[in-house]
Amino acid sequence: MTKHTVTITDNKTGKSIECPVHEGTYGPPVIDTKTLYSGLGMFTLDPGFLTTASCRSKITFLDGEKGILLHRGYPIEQLAEHSTYLEVCYLLLYGELPTRRQYEEFEAQVKFRSNVHERVNHMYAGYLYDAHPMSIMVGVMAALSSYYHEALDLNDPADRDLTAKRVIAKMPTLAAQCYKFAIGHPFVYPNNSLGYVENFLNMMFSHPMSTYTPDPVAVRALDVLLILHADHEQNASTSTVRLSGSAEANPFACIAAGMVSLWGRAHGGANEAVIHMLNEIKTPDNIPKFIARAKDKKDTFRLMGFGHRVYKNFDPRSRVIRKVCYDLLERLPNKVDRALFDTALKLEDIALKDEYFIERKLYPNVDFYSGIILKALGIPLSMFTVIFALGRSVGWIAQWLELMEDPDFKIGRPRQLYNGAEKRDYVPFNQRS
Ligand code: ACO
Repeated sequence: MTKHTVTITDNKTGKSIECPVHEGTYGPPVIDTKTLYSGLGMFTLDPGFLTTASCRSKITFLDGEKGILLHRGYPIEQLAEHSTYLEVCYLLLYGELPTRRQYEEFEAQVKFRSNVHERVNHMYAGYLYDAHPMSIMVGVMAALSSYYHEALDLNDPADRDLTAKRVIAKMPTLAAQCYKFAIGHPFVYPNNSLGYVENFLNMMFSHPMSTYTPDPVAVRALDVLLILHADHEQNASTSTVRLSGSAEANPFACIAAGMVSLWGRAHGGANEAVIHMLNEIKTPDNIPKFIARAKDKKDTFRLMGFGHRVYKNFDPRSRVIRKVCYDLLERLPNKVDRALFDTALKLEDIALKDEYFIERKLYPNVDFYSGIILKALGIPLSMFTVIFALGRSVGWIAQWLELMEDPDFKIGRPRQLYNGAEKRDYVPFNQRS
C-alpha cells in the first residue's frame, strides 16, 4: 500500500522527484526509486543490498531486530513444534496449510516423482572419489534440466507446479546418492511406503546386506531441521535463484545456481565450518584464544555460526535447534557428541558476554548448532550443506514460482557506479612501455 511519498532533491541542479513509499504487512516502508533515473538521471548504490528490496513477496517475513521469522504468517517456532517438512512445503508453495485431503494428495504426488532417471545414476562416475558432495549436487541438479527442458513450458502454471513437486521429490534421492557415491556403496532407490524424511534416511543408511530402521527420534529431529531451513526470504542463494529465473532459465539450472551460492562458507557452508572450528577449539579452555582471534582485525578468522546480515538478535531458528540438541541428548545420549555440544554452549556463553559481540549484535545463527544434530544423526560433515540445500530447495522453488507469477516480472539487471579508466585509444605492443 502506498501512503506517502519521499522527495529526493539533487542539491546540484535543484531538481526534485517524488518517490512513492510502499508499506507491506510488516517491515520498514520501501521507497520506490523506479523514476530516479528518468527524473534525476541517477542510480542508487547499495553494495551487498543492505537496504534494497529486490522484490515484493508474500512467502516469508523476518524481523532481524526482534528475531522473528514467519512463513506465510506462521511463526517458525509453531511450525517446528507442530508441523512436518512436507506440510511446510505445501504452505510455502500454496500459501495456506493444507486440509488432510490436500496434504495426502500432495504427499502422493511428491512420492510418485521421487525416483530419478536411471541415466542420472551414471553421472556420478565422472566425479573424483573424494569430490565434495556439494560439487556433485550442483552438477546432478543442473543435469536434471536436460530431462525437463523442451517439454517444460515456463508460461504454463501446471508445468511450473509440476516442476516444484519434482524438485522437492528428487532432492532427497540426489542427496543420498551423493553420500552413497562418496562411501562406495550401491545407491538405494526411493521407497514410497516411507515418509519423506524416513525415505531419505533409508536411502542414506540402508544397505542391500542389512535392514535399516530409522529411529523415530532421529526422523523427527531431521524433520525439524528441514523445516528450519525451508525458506529465509531474499538471502544470497534465493536471490541467485530469482536472478537466474528472471532470465527465464531452466528452473532446475536455477536451483543448481542457488546451491552454488549456498555452498559458500559465509552462507550455508558455515554449518560445516562450525564443526571444523569446534574441533579446532577442542576444549572450552581454548575458547578465549579463538574469541581473541575473531576480534583481531588482522586475523581473517571469524567465529563461524555467529552473526547474520539481518538478525541483530537471536536467530529464532538457532533457539529451536539448541532445544533439539538438548532433546537428542536426553533421548539418544550416545549419539550426541557431548564434548562438542559443551564447547558450543560455552563458546556461545562467552561470546554473548563479550563487548565486541554485544556491540555488533552478533548472535548464534542457524548453522551454529545444526551440525551437532547432523552429527548425532550419523550424517558426515561433508554432507551438512547438502542437508541445508535439501531443506532450502522448497524455498528456492516457491520463490521461483512467485517470481514467475509476478506482474512486475522483469529480468534482474542491476546497474553500477563505473569508476574505471576513461575512454582511451588502443596501443600496439611495440608502443607500450
Ligand atoms: N566473527 C567475528 N566478527 C564478526 C563476525 C563473526 N562471525 N560476523 C561479523 N563480524 C564483525 C565484522 O568483522 C564487522 O566488524 P566491524 O564493524 O568492526 O568491521 C561487523 O561484525 C559486521 O560484519 P559484516 O561482515 O559487515 O556483516 P555482514 O552482515 O556483511 O555479514 C555474515 C554477515 C556473513 C553472516 C557474517 O556475520 C559472518 O561472516 N559470519 C560467519 C559465517 C556464518 O556463520 N555464516 C552463516 C550465516 S547464516 C546463513 O547463511 C544460513
